[in-house]
Amino acid sequence: MSIAYLNGCFGELDQIRISPLDRGFLFGDGVYEVIPCYGALVFRLEQHLKRLETCLASIQIKNPLSRTAWVELLNDLAKRNNSDGQLLYVQVTRGVAPRDHAFPDTEPTIFAMSRPWNRNEIPVPAKSIVGVDNRWNRCDIKTISLLGNVLLRQQAVENSATENILLRNGHVTEGAASNVFVVVNGEIKTPPRSPFILGGVTRDAVLELSRARGTNIQECEISEQELRNADEIWLTSSSMEIKPVIELDHVRVGGRQPGPVWMEIFAAFRSMTEA
Ligand code: PDD
Repeated sequence: MSIAYLNGCFGELDQIRISPLDRGFLFGDGVYEVIPCYGALVFRLEQHLKRLETCLASIQIKNPLSRTAWVELLNDLAKRNNSDGQLLYVQVTRGVAPRDHAFPDTEPTIFAMSRPWNRNEIPVPAKSIVGVDNRWNRCDIKTISLLGNVLLRQQAVENSATENILLRNGHVTEGAASNVFVVVNGEIKTPPRSPFILGGVTRDAVLELSRARGTNIQECEISEQELRNADEIWLTSSSMEIKPVIELDHVRVGGRQPGPVWMEIFAAFRSMTEA
């Protein structure tokens, strides 16, 4: 069993108890992060914590810990679980209070856990479907209220696919739990930051390393037609890393194998995670 953390104490995950009056349980009133660890490297911890802080502020939950205390806590959790690969999960909810929609005057709940992560040396290529983005208008907040995402991911699974790539008003937003990149005529494109996508930490890493290599990359709108005709499609997330999509709605993407631009960018990403 793995070691988890709740409100100041570490313990076995299956021994940890949370109140049924916790607003995370009753309302999905909280935010979360998933942080990948490569051996001792807690990947892009500062970027994950920055997003956690921004998301807490945007839903008016007071940040229960300083940046230094967060860094200490998550490094400590990673060490206690001491695994070659692991995904840290941390969530902060508005806390425990009698059920009432309006904010109570209470302390936030901090919960964190780790799960072993047997990432493949090279991500397994994925099949994807295209779906309708019917989520709310604040997808930039990494909220634990994930019902929309859950239903959309399930559609993918029921269609023998790994991910559901979402369209809003005819343009790509993101996947049910990932960001989306396409390659069209050698140029990499990804939808711009907006309230309709999560600003992914992996997405930022791909933007950074592509720009550092002088690769042509643009944050711009991607139409449904561009998506369907793309030479390459990739999904990015902390757990998927950069995953090539080889089939979209049962139609092959490019040569039905990971494309040359993906190979180049993934190799650069891998050197980042091995640093
Ligand atoms: N999800 N968009 C959505 C809707 C996501 O849920 C995620 C990640 C991303 C990618 O963000 P990042 O690169 O920072 O992981 C984009 C996580 C991994 C999850 O819910 O398990």
